[in-house]
Amino acid sequence: MNASQNMTSAIKPFSSSSFSSSSSRFAKKRTDVKAAAKTFAEAKNYNLTLLPGDGIGPEIMRVAKDVLNEVGRKHAIKFTYEERLVGGAAIDAFGTPLPEDTLECCKRSDAVLLAAIGGYKWDTLAANMRPERGLLGLRAGMEVFANLRPAVVLPQLADASSLKKHIVSGTDIMVVRELTGGIYFGEPKGFGTNKKGEKIGFNTMVYSEPEVDRIAKVAFEIARKRKGRLCSVDKANVLEVSQLWRERVIETHKGYKDVELSHMYIDNCAMQVIRDPKQFDTIVTGNIFGDIISDAASMLTGSIGMLPSAAVGSSGPGLYEPVHGSAPDIAGQDKANPLAQVLSAAMLLRYQFGEEEAAKSIEAAVNATLDQGFRTGDIMQEGMKLVGCTAMQEALMKNLSK
Ligand code: IPM
Ligand code: MG
Repeated sequence: MNASQNMTSAIKPFSSSSFSSSSSRFAKKRTDVKAAAKTFAEAKNYNLTLLPGDGIGPEIMRVAKDVLNEVGRKHAIKFTYEERLVGGAAIDAFGTPLPEDTLECCKRSDAVLLAAIGGYKWDTLAANMRPERGLLGLRAGMEVFANLRPAVVLPQLADASSLKKHIVSGTDIMVVRELTGGIYFGEPKGFGTNKKGEKIGFNTMVYSEPEVDRIAKVAFEIARKRKGRLCSVDKANVLEVSQLWRERVIETHKGYKDVELSHMYIDNCAMQVIRDPKQFDTIVTGNIFGDIISDAASMLTGSIGMLPSAAVGSSGPGLYEPVHGSAPDIAGQDKANPLAQVLSAAMLLRYQFGEEEAAKSIEAAVNATLDQGFRTGDIMQEGMKLVGCTAMQEALMKNLSK
């Protein structure tokens, strides 16, 4: 299997229609050839909200925007962009990490591309004023409950992992993380005092049956289109919330008997992902376990700087973002790896619009660029060409225009 097939299979769990509300909407209108041609032209004009955010965000977003424009030129797609502030940048400008206008703009667009948020500068603010709160508000406000985080080891980067090559090569995992519930959002939460008069902090890990059912369905659908194996990850030996989770996943499985379901405790999963990653196909898990396990899985691939993600709801615009953070330590130094951002744009084209060919051209250009030996610092290996963000972009654009 070549690299591009490998990557495509991993980040293509849905039929293109599953989340392409706009294209299916247009398809229904096609009554005659003339109307179809007009509708087709309309369908090819997509409104995107771009949220560059903080740190390396603006640098890598610039790359993704140029890539989208180029791919649009090639595949006759027009993108209209609106840019908004979120995270630290929004705190500085408006005193809040998620201005209402930013959320409104996201909700009325066809899809949202986010870079990264956060930085040292805002680390000392109260929890409800931190940049992260902007991201959580965005996920909740857009109701994007299913977060798809592929971890694919590209053949060119199998040596870049801190784990042995024979362990990681061929790894192709899709983590399906529940994104708008669990301990991140559960009530009650806050600070208080216990009976002994000691200060306490507390959060609530809670899932309702419908919340588990809907994420389980998404995961079964994905597993069905991959290798047909789904591992549900929980802590059912200790937590009631996980017992309910497991019950509902088993119940949902009744509608997906062609998918092989297994269960694993989160601690064991953290170990197994590192010991023998190839045992996994699709993983489904709650918000915090998914946060942790997707970071662990990212290390198999050589760098978290390679990993895109998609967050989708049952309809409406999805939120597409790299798994990595804003890397304030290298911000503004032309050192950032833009590939996860660019691959997130490819996911956006595939899942939101069903633009499979356009998505594939981006992935092929990324592959070609890696084949040519271009590497940013995070994925640098002996004998390769160390480049910065701008030079990586130049190489990418050359491959894209071929
Ligand atoms: C992620 C991040 C976020 C999360 C932070 C920045 C709030 O770690 O997207 O994985 O915990 O979900
Ligand atoms: Mg995380």
